[in-house]
Parts: sequence; C-alpha cells; structure tokens
Amino acid sequence: MADREVTLSIFRFDPEKDKEGRFVDYKVPTVEGMVVLDAVRYVQEKIDTTLAIRWNCKAARCGSCSAEINNRPALMCKTRIDTLGDRITVAPMRAFPVIRDLVTDVDENYRIMSKIPKFTVRKELMNPEAEGKKHQDVWRIQQINVERAKEFKKCIECFLCQDVCHVVREHKSGYFGPRHIVKAASLDMHPLDIVNRAKFLNEEGGLGYCNITKCCQEVCPEHIHITDNAIIPEKERAVDLQYDPLMHAIKRRLMK
Ligand code: SF4
Ligand code: F3S
Ligand code: FES
Repeated sequence: MADREVTLSIFRFDPEKDKEGRFVDYKVPTVEGMVVLDAVRYVQEKIDTTLAIRWNCKAARCGSCSAEINNRPALMCKTRIDTLGDRITVAPMRAFPVIRDLVTDVDENYRIMSKIPKFTVRKELMNPEAEGKKHQDVWRIQQINVERAKEFKKCIECFLCQDVCHVVREHKSGYFGPRHIVKAASLDMHPLDIVNRAKFLNEEGGLGYCNITKCCQEVCPEHIHITDNAIIPEKERAVDLQYDPLMHAIKRRLMK
C-alpha cells in the first residue's frame, strides 16, 4: 500500500532533440523503505520508458547510480525517500558531461587513473627465489600497514567526491581530483612500493589547487577520510620533497 505520493523532478536531456536539458515532474507513490533509485525506476517502468539511468547493484557497492539529489551528490540507491521532502529533484552529476538524462560520461576519470604511476617494487621482490629467498618472506608486511591502506580500498568509484569538488567542477585547472589522490595515496602508503607520487601529483595533477574544503569526504558513501588521510599527507610529502631541512642546512653552511 502506498504511504504517500512524492513529486520527482527529473532532469531530462536527449542529445538528438534538445539543445539543453530541462526538469520534468513525475508523481510517484512511495512505500516504506523506498530509495530514490526505486522511485526513478518506477518512472522508467510505469511512466516513461525512454528515461536513461545507470545503476547495477542497488546495494551501494558498484558506484554507478551517482546523481545529485536535491542538489547534493549522492547514490540514488542509498538515499531513502523518507529522509526527503515531498518534492525531490534528481539531476546528473554536474562535474561530467551529460550523455542522456541522468547518465554522465565519466571517462575522464579512467584517463586520469591511467596516468598515476603503478605499484612498483624492487626488482628482487619479483623473483625472490633467484636470491634463495621465499616469496612469502619478502612480501610480508606489517598489519598496521594493511590497516592504513584498507580505508582507501573501500572506494567504489562512484565519483561523487569528484562531482562535489569545486576545483574539479569549476576551475578546470587540470586538478586530478580527490578520488585519484586517494588512489595515489593508497599506493604511496604501501611499504613495499618504491615510487613517491607526491611530486607527480603536485606538478602533473594540480594537487596545490585543492584548498582543503573537505566537501569530498563529506559526500563519500564509504566514509573515506579523503582530505585528512589522503590529500593532506600527499601535500605534506610534496612539501617535504621540495624542502629538505638537512639539504637546506648544508647549503647554508656551504654559502658561508
Ligand atoms: Fe566515491 Fe568515496 Fe571513492 Fe570518491 S573516494 S569515488 S566518493 S567511494
Ligand atoms: Fe576538492 Fe576535497 Fe580539496 S572537495 S578542494 S579535493 S578537500
Ligand atoms: Fe550500485 Fe547504487 S546501484 S551503487
């Protein structure tokens, strides 16, 4: 039995017909426990089958149903209708080009990902037997290091953090964006990895443009401390690389 009726105001855009998109209102009956994705699928199944949406798991695991619900980046499958008012707007993520209706083109993220230096270990680790060592001995890492990177591994690549970041959205500065700093930080924090990505993030990834507003970590559905645990440590590493106090002291002494 329907609990109440809500008005879903959904952004519609058909690249073959429209120059720009518009919001269209739909009346949707709700039931207890219903999420925004259920309501949008109701519209697609019962009212207008041409509505384009992207979703897969309906369990907040695949990261594909990202949208802006009442102007806030969120997963449609994780946002309950009973936490919202009687009028709900659903729009595509603003940081990415719209393909159709609620579906955006997030390809740029995969291009950025392919630029981040890969996980790299010392050559000996790839073939420990050649040096008479056991694989499980040289690849052993402390539990504390496992725990540290675990948080970053929870990322479901929903790109909501990219969407909310004003630097990614507005300035088109070339800043890679929070999701990609998380990825780089997870590699940099691995004790067997020998690459330091901070300099690269600073010079190629525009890390300096992030002014630590923390909006990214506020919208992350996995509650990853994006700014505190990934961005700030990478910024600190970048500063350390530029300013080595020991080298600075040696140079000053030589100049005397
Ligand atoms: Fe989504 Fe969080 Fe991953 Fe960003 S860091 S893509 S918000 S899960
Ligand atoms: Fe953007 Fe997050 Fe920095 S929202 S400005 S990446 S703290
Ligand atoms: Fe998979 Fe929402 S449908 S995260």
